[in-house]
Amino acid sequence: MDKKRILTGDRPTGKLHIGHYFGSLQNRVKLQNEHETFIEVADVQALTDNFANPEKVKNNVKEIIMDQLAVGIDPNKSTIFLQSMVPEIAELTVFYSNLVTIARLERNPTVKTEIAQKREIFGESVTYGFLGYPVSQAADITAFDATIIPVGEDQLPLIEQCREIVRKFNSIYGENLKEPEAYLGENKRIKGLDGNEKMGKSLGNAIYLADSEEEIAKKVMSAVTDPARIKKDDPGNPNVCMVAYYHNLFSKGEVETVCEECKAGKRGCVACKKQLIKNIVEHLAPIQERRRYYEERPEEVKEILMEGTKKARKEAEVTMKKVKQAMKLDYFE
Ligand code: TRP
Repeated sequence: MDKKRILTGDRPTGKLHIGHYFGSLQNRVKLQNEHETFIEVADVQALTDNFANPEKVKNNVKEIIMDQLAVGIDPNKSTIFLQSMVPEIAELTVFYSNLVTIARLERNPTVKTEIAQKREIFGESVTYGFLGYPVSQAADITAFDATIIPVGEDQLPLIEQCREIVRKFNSIYGENLKEPEAYLGENKRIKGLDGNEKMGKSLGNAIYLADSEEEIAKKVMSAVTDPARIKKDDPGNPNVCMVAYYHNLFSKGEVETVCEECKAGKRGCVACKKQLIKNIVEHLAPIQERRRYYEERPEEVKEILMEGTKKARKEAEVTMKKVKQAMKLDYFE
């Protein structure tokens, strides 16, 4: 099989939740067996909208790494690295910034949506750094010659922008960079406990991979169910019930019965929720056990990150050299 290179990343702004798990982490765990995988902890990108909150970014770097290891990212197969410790990415960002117009960045749908959501941070005028983060993301990707980028749908405009930068670079400085492609895989968008189309840390509707049994129980008990079902033996509609929705993800083999009994008014919401809680707790148990292993061994986690970053940096240096040559910045060679 033709081995390709994968790169993906996360902004360290919070712990990962089951939306990340079904949406992308499971994909990563599978893909690491097929292709060489790089996973970036995008702390520099996280600062573009958390510049006033460096403590938050710092604290979440550890959490993000631990979450990856917990779900089965194998440090012998995948390279986990820290963006800020690969300065070549920042250098590439500066070079690429000549290849993209301000108008094009302002038209990027992902950036546009995010700016609208972050009014309380940016007010009427967005920072140069935030507007330019797609350029920095193009540097993340091209620094490693990555061609497969597993992401959620919301990231597609960023990959497209990266492809444009690559084409522009190659047309001016010669064929040096590879055009990446987004990999959506079986990427599903997971709805939140409140029925919102998206589970998100900022929406307060997420079940985290590291949540305790008590937290999971409390959250599931508060999940939105069929509002028309008032009494226990009223027939319910699983299609409008978030508990049924999560049973679909966590209760393989049971979900049909669950829905039949709900529709027939034979199973009350409380019993149904209790069963879901049990299944989620069971599903997350091995993940949490692995997380605990790493929580108890911070030195090992640090070692994984340092080794990964060293390897990543070596790769980025090769690209940097190539780029500088192409741009006639190789004065003394
Ligand atoms: N922008 C991505 C997110 O918010 C994180 C990210 C940073 C990324 N660098 C990347 C994703 C490179 C894919 C490739 O989720």
